[in-house]
Amino acid sequence: MTREKPCVLIGVTGCIAAYKTCEIVRGLQKAGVRVKVVMTEHATEFVGPTTFRALTHEPVAVGLFDDPSDPIHHISLAQECDVFLIAPCTANVAAKIAHGIADDLLTTTALATKSPLVLAPAMNVGMYEAAATQENFETLRRRGVRFIDAASGYQACGDVGRGRMEEPEAIVSQILTLLDDLFGVKRDLVGERVMVTAGPTVEPIDAVRYISNHSSGKMGYAIAEAACARGAEVTLVSGPVSLAAPEGVTVVPVKTACDMLEAARSAFAESSIAIFSAAVADLRPANPSDRKLKKGSDDASLASILLVENPDILKTLGWEKKPGQVVIGFAAETNDVIENARVKLEKKNADMIVANWVGEGRAFGQDDNQASFVLHEEVIDLPSMSKRDLADRILDQALLIAR
Ligand code: PMT
Repeated sequence: MTREKPCVLIGVTGCIAAYKTCEIVRGLQKAGVRVKVVMTEHATEFVGPTTFRALTHEPVAVGLFDDPSDPIHHISLAQECDVFLIAPCTANVAAKIAHGIADDLLTTTALATKSPLVLAPAMNVGMYEAAATQENFETLRRRGVRFIDAASGYQACGDVGRGRMEEPEAIVSQILTLLDDLFGVKRDLVGERVMVTAGPTVEPIDAVRYISNHSSGKMGYAIAEAACARGAEVTLVSGPVSLAAPEGVTVVPVKTACDMLEAARSAFAESSIAIFSAAVADLRPANPSDRKLKKGSDDASLASILLVENPDILKTLGWEKKPGQVVIGFAAETNDVIENARVKLEKKNADMIVANWVGEGRAFGQDDNQASFVLHEEVIDLPSMSKRDLADRILDQALLIAR
């Protein structure tokens, strides 16, 4: 792959089907694709650029000179995208592209791009069947432009026939298949729901103090991002971290272990794969104070904090596992790593434990990690690698367990 996330540029042209493009944007984002949008002037009569800006978190250009910071915007858009999808594509825009007419940002970008161009036509049946339109489509097909053919059915103008833009779900699926072919990206988690716990938990002592640990969330976020890129629907139950939410992933922020159990339990019920990478505090203060404890007046409470055991989230949900669900835990150990991981595997009813060495600057907060997969029948030792690569190896193993 040329970059972490594939990028699809969506061109929106002036047609009532433009409202369906919002669903295409969301569908691609959910699959871990970065989406940018360029619109024709006419398209803005149907859906405003603000809608696409809000959905994509990217600038949305309409005019050739809209972005003063980028005087050759059509070239940068053309180069940046891995696929240029025009959906809906009107008869007029297809005709312009077929004849090399480049009189706005969308058509100049279409002419300039070397990336695969995909058109999802949408127009009245008469326009669709017109000889000129069909000849234009033929010309474009001969030049390697791909088509997501229009469907037949009831049209906004009242006519019935061919010319309805294909449904967003089908368009998303065809674009994802194309991205797979282009980059050899695995899309083997399409249809799977993955739940990941990540980061630390924080357990309040009083209004300002807490017990926690050094987990940065990097490991869990890498797993969530990798699962999403492979097509899964991902819920990330995250303790407090300073990482940005991975695009396309549903993040449920929590603070304490008790909150994390509640959020994880509700996502777990729907999940086919559950991965518990959070560093959950084993203990919490029994009587947290709502106010700040003061030196002088609260010395006794500060000197000795009574701790109680937190729920073990992996263990609780591991024993609630249903047939077909895959449960993967972690073990953070400074010694006897494999032996300790084996005990956790059995006690917590997991299918696999990712055993990693911690202490002396290892694992916590790092970009790389070295781990062993402790399974019921074997142990697989892995070399040190980036957490993103390890995330993919964990997901590969999860799929093997599922089969
Ligand atoms: O977040 P990073 O900075 O990227 O660091 C990654 C990591 C070191 C936190 C991660 O790789 C890791 O090892 N996570 C598990 C940390 C941990 O709490 O390990 P443990 O051996 O104490 O727990 C064993 C398993 O039980 C873990 O899956 C843990 O999530 C789970 N657990 C533990 C206690 C508890 N009360 N509830 C749990 O669910």
